[in-house]
Amino acid sequence: MLARAFRPELDAKRLRSMYLDFFKARAHAVIPSASLIPDGDGSVLFTTAGMHPLVPYLMGREHPAGSRLTGVQKCVRTNDIEEVGDLTHLTFFEMLGNWSLGDYYKADSIRWSFEFLTGSETLGISPDSLWVTVFDGNTDVPRDEESASIWRSLGLPPERIIFLGEEDNWWAAGPEGPCGPDTEIFYDMTGQACEAGPECSPGRCGCGRFFEIWNNVFMSYDRRGASLTPLPRRNVDTGMGLERTLAALTGVQSVYETASFKPIMAELQRLSGRSADEIAADANRLKAARVLADHIRTATFMLGDERGIRPSNQGQGYVLRRLIRRGVRYCEQLGLSPEQWVGVSDIVVREYGEVYPSLAAQADVIRSELLSEKDRFEATLARGVKLLERELERLRQEGGELLPGQTAFRLYDTYGFPFEFTQELVAEQGLTVDENGFAKAAIEHQERSRSEAAKSGLADDSVESTRYHTATHLLHAALRRVLGEHVEQKGSNINRERMRFDFSLDRPMTPLELQEAQSQVQAWIDADLPVRQRVLPHAEARSLGAIGLFNDRYGDEVSIYEIGDVSVEFCGGPHVERTSELGRFQIKKEQSSSAGVRRIRAHLTP
Ligand code: GLY
Repeated sequence: MLARAFRPELDAKRLRSMYLDFFKARAHAVIPSASLIPDGDGSVLFTTAGMHPLVPYLMGREHPAGSRLTGVQKCVRTNDIEEVGDLTHLTFFEMLGNWSLGDYYKADSIRWSFEFLTGSETLGISPDSLWVTVFDGNTDVPRDEESASIWRSLGLPPERIIFLGEEDNWWAAGPEGPCGPDTEIFYDMTGQACEAGPECSPGRCGCGRFFEIWNNVFMSYDRRGASLTPLPRRNVDTGMGLERTLAALTGVQSVYETASFKPIMAELQRLSGRSADEIAADANRLKAARVLADHIRTATFMLGDERGIRPSNQGQGYVLRRLIRRGVRYCEQLGLSPEQWVGVSDIVVREYGEVYPSLAAQADVIRSELLSEKDRFEATLARGVKLLERELERLRQEGGELLPGQTAFRLYDTYGFPFEFTQELVAEQGLTVDENGFAKAAIEHQERSRSEAAKSGLADDSVESTRYHTATHLLHAALRRVLGEHVEQKGSNINRERMRFDFSLDRPMTPLELQEAQSQVQAWIDADLPVRQRVLPHAEARSLGAIGLFNDRYGDEVSIYEIGDVSVEFCGGPHVERTSELGRFQIKKEQSSSAGVRRIRAHLTP
């Protein structure tokens, strides 16, 4: 397909400044990019959109910079990691955005987007190349006729304004929190329908003709479980993916050919001793080059983040480890050494250090962390692969199709293979890994090491601490009942004598609220509720409404604890079996812990 080359000279620097200047001229304050690790929200590992750091303000808090904001946010999305290497998927990207916190709404938002895209001083796109989608309505929220009519008033013909349902035109950052209908703007790459004819339109046709470049969300609702309530203020949240927009406007076939990637790809070509054409001629090699470019960029940004992520077996560190180890494996396909590959981080730092100073400041740490993680993995890679090959051979002989979870866990624990890495290797042989078995092996291992650690005095799973652990879940649930579901756990600390529980609240609790929370916990203790552990897929746990700090993750399975029907939390345990084992619960103190966070200290007595 021949893309319409449009602004071949456009690069990231120019697009960023053009965007920010445009909104500055419309009274927006420019806010800096936040860390890749979101504040306080235990339900997601990474900042996945520009609005993420703004959630408290979208919910109604005053932002110190005002009610009109704009900025560029670094984002990581790793749920599509296997798709990396196609034309559009990236694990790291930059998102341009403008926000209205109860200030302007649909009319200005849509008009400014249109002006920025088509204005001769800005992107200068022909209005004929633009298509939009708007929300078609559902049982809760009506069809967005207002947005459609604003688009028509700007000259867009009705046939290029497509109404679509919730799947396409409703946006939320997570299962709970601010959300709303959106209008998405697409760039028409070819100006010609594919063989689908009149059906060739955004959201309906996947032929590649339409590139989504901007999403304007009218954040006006708050979702809590099944209920959707209007927010106190109507907000606008827009997101423009920088790399995708560059790809569309410069008329290249993929994000990897944009100016953002050119120096990285060029270095990979140089190191592999192959020209761009030679790489493109072989599908496996092309995929390897793209994966290596994507993963080194993301790993560099993670290591060089303000809150520096380090490779580990948990949370963000686990994702980083997975990216580096996945990269090490792809090096062979492109014909370069892992050592050469990790050195490409220098190019990433050089290209982005000016916009993201924490990268430049940590260049040495980035390089040395990459090298040691590579070394750690290489030390065991060959032996692990040998073990896996033996097991797969045995499986084939037995006519089985499922690699036992125990084997995957051994690879994970002893040889440092991230679970998904084993999954990919096994899938290449047309087989699958027993995910449930893996999660069970991981949890058994965790329990074993916990009791070993307890015996050696390192951790504490004494009867006293176990009681406090369960009391923490009850207090969390009680606070949400008394203060509202916006209350979130921010941390906890337990020893044999007392518990501390930190949670989000921007004011002190009243004596009456404290009394209510304490009585509620006591009532649940006296009700002798059963405590039950279950291991189940993450999505299922979420659909049960599981809350809490979510740190341990093995494959897709998670461990949750349910207490009667009053609490469901992500947790690895240990816990008591029945709440009556807790005795008497007393809140001793409630005080400030840090900005927006309160701390409760409580005791259990027999
Ligand atoms: N927050 C809008 C988007 O990411 O599309």
